[in-house]
Amino acid sequence: MAGNTPPEGAAILWSGRLEEKPTAGAFAFQSSISVDERLALEDIQGSRAHAHMLGKQGIIPAHTAAALDAELDRIARELEAGTLKIDQGAEDIHSFIEGVLTSRLGDAGRMLHAGRSRNDQVVTDLKLYLKHLVPKLCDELRETIRIVLDQAETYAEALMPGYTHLQRAQPITLGHHLVAWSSGLVRDLGRFTDALDRLDECPLGAGALAGSGLPLDRADTARSLGFSAPTLNTMDAVADRDFVLELAGALAITMTHLSRFCEDLVLWASEEFKFITLSEAWSTGSSIMPQKKNPDFAELIRAKAGRATGNLVCLLTLLKGLPYAYDKDLQEDKEALFDSLDTVRACLSMFQGMLSSARFHTEPMERALVGGFLEATDAAEYLVRKGLPFRTAHETVAWLVRDCIAQGQRSMSERTLEELKSRSPLFESDIYQALSPRACVEARKGAGGPAPEEVRRQIGVLRSKIRS
Ligand code: ARG
Repeated sequence: MAGNTPPEGAAILWSGRLEEKPTAGAFAFQSSISVDERLALEDIQGSRAHAHMLGKQGIIPAHTAAALDAELDRIARELEAGTLKIDQGAEDIHSFIEGVLTSRLGDAGRMLHAGRSRNDQVVTDLKLYLKHLVPKLCDELRETIRIVLDQAETYAEALMPGYTHLQRAQPITLGHHLVAWSSGLVRDLGRFTDALDRLDECPLGAGALAGSGLPLDRADTARSLGFSAPTLNTMDAVADRDFVLELAGALAITMTHLSRFCEDLVLWASEEFKFITLSEAWSTGSSIMPQKKNPDFAELIRAKAGRATGNLVCLLTLLKGLPYAYDKDLQEDKEALFDSLDTVRACLSMFQGMLSSARFHTEPMERALVGGFLEATDAAEYLVRKGLPFRTAHETVAWLVRDCIAQGQRSMSERTLEELKSRSPLFESDIYQALSPRACVEARKGAGGPAPEEVRRQIGVLRSKIRS
């Protein structure tokens, strides 16, 4: 570690109180610039609103407020253009911006922090950042849903086995399966918009924890920053991070969804299933086995769900038992949340490319409908329609399945009508038609079912929900 003191030029906002200085290593340890530098523009936005309000309230001279506003705007433009670089030796983004401002404006810059603390500043910045970023993420999620629904529409009629316990269960359509995926993603969308709604209160002016004796106008800064209101309680404003937990939770759920879809894709892309071919651009090879084409992208998305879960657990643990109000522990909130946000955004983008370029194979899917007695429930329901109690029908068909297996038959349709009747006289010749996978699916046209017309209705419902 070089040197014993913090890097030169790093504005330390609290150095007046302490005679001794931390070593460079210790200073770097407690710094957060590498994480919160991404809040630079939001920090400037918050400072401009604060400066404007201080001027309006007569807390600083109007010409000082105007000078601060102009210089902050200039700093934002320089940062965007790349002509001003963020000093990685600064403690955090707040000290950096204030340091630049003060080096350029002198005492005017030193007036800005009246009635404000980094405690309310950082949480204002973070909320502003999320108010800007989460809607973008919602758009990316909508686009992902659109891609899944487009595939669902294309394959609304395509028969495939539905699985429980990863054993063939009942015939469904690929469209039905893909609408199941989309339904989860649409609820994820709802979780993000709910979280945005709840975080829409402005912490600025809450100060360190107890507000300020200066005549701040918190409603004014809240309004000018686009919040619906200032936070009700100044202590809650700086101490709580439930909005971070909520988003991290929604992000972990989204990743959990994606990981399950990807597991389906990995299975389907296997030689054993052959339901799907992932495009070559969305596959990788092996360094030793020349024949390999691996679904690495799906596997990585599946794996990254672990990060999002880890971040959520990290945040919950961070907050658990933390005394009110602000503690430096809270500085650790952003790294975990940003990682989850970045992970979900990257995974959505990869998932979109992978799924939209994939080719589904309807023949192997249909072939997989034979041999697993997926028609058994429909045979039982056939008997129920003829008046047999379901439990009796279930037993009758179970015996039939055992008869078939004993005879090496792969479907109940291979039994003669006499053989079927020996188990139940209620079987008639129309049973054979009723047992075809297509008929099983067509019969399930009740709400939520896999019949193509019903799947198309479900697609329509979800499409209307993602119209922003
Ligand atoms: N970097 C800090 C954070 O992210 C800013 C607030 C620091 N406040 C303090 N009193 N040290 O939480």
